[in-house]
Amino acid sequence: MINIAVLVSGRGTNLQAIIDAIKKGRIDGSIKIVISDNPEAYALERAHRNNINTEVVLYKKFNSKKEYEEVILKHLCVYKIDLIVLAGYMRLLSSNFVQKYHHRIINIHPALLPAFPGLNAQRQALRYGVKVSGCTVHFVDEGLDSGPIILQKAVKVKQDDDEESLSRRILKYEHQLLPRAIQLFAQDRIKIIKNIVFLKE
Ligand code: GRF
Repeated sequence: MINIAVLVSGRGTNLQAIIDAIKKGRIDGSIKIVISDNPEAYALERAHRNNINTEVVLYKKFNSKKEYEEVILKHLCVYKIDLIVLAGYMRLLSSNFVQKYHHRIINIHPALLPAFPGLNAQRQALRYGVKVSGCTVHFVDEGLDSGPIILQKAVKVKQDDDEESLSRRILKYEHQLLPRAIQLFAQDRIKIIKNIVFLKE
């Protein structure tokens, strides 16, 4: 059983998908803490409803990113966290932080990386005119939405899609992919060789 921390900034539908998967016995682990940089995040409410510990760490309260992250790292240490899941967490982690949890931080991104990293990935995809987009779960490294790819799901872009409709269709698959990737990690089925993920049977 692994100890999971989920970092969030917003509505938390991916957090909810993880909570639901754990309840259904689909993840060999439990969420020990949900940490948000946004006190208004609805994700916090979802955590409370499920009796999960929460912490709000306000970025602007600190003089530097280092101090801000040190507080987060302390919380992670208390709960002996094995895996950090970024589920709609809107900040970049420093390389110091990433190195401390090397290959133990995963992120969900609403595009087929390495296409369209960064903010508003669905909008970027529509503006580019791609016919297929999707979502990606990957390990976090020091770059922006880079790092070894664990799972991807392709979603067709329709002619009449707007940002909202495409995001909605992609989100449905995010909710499947993220719990699945967490379970692969929990079962120790992920092997990384030269930045490429191989899944063990
Ligand atoms: C998702 O689209 C995720 O891919 C991106 O941020 C969004 C978070 O949504 N990183 P939610 O807060 O999980 O509902």
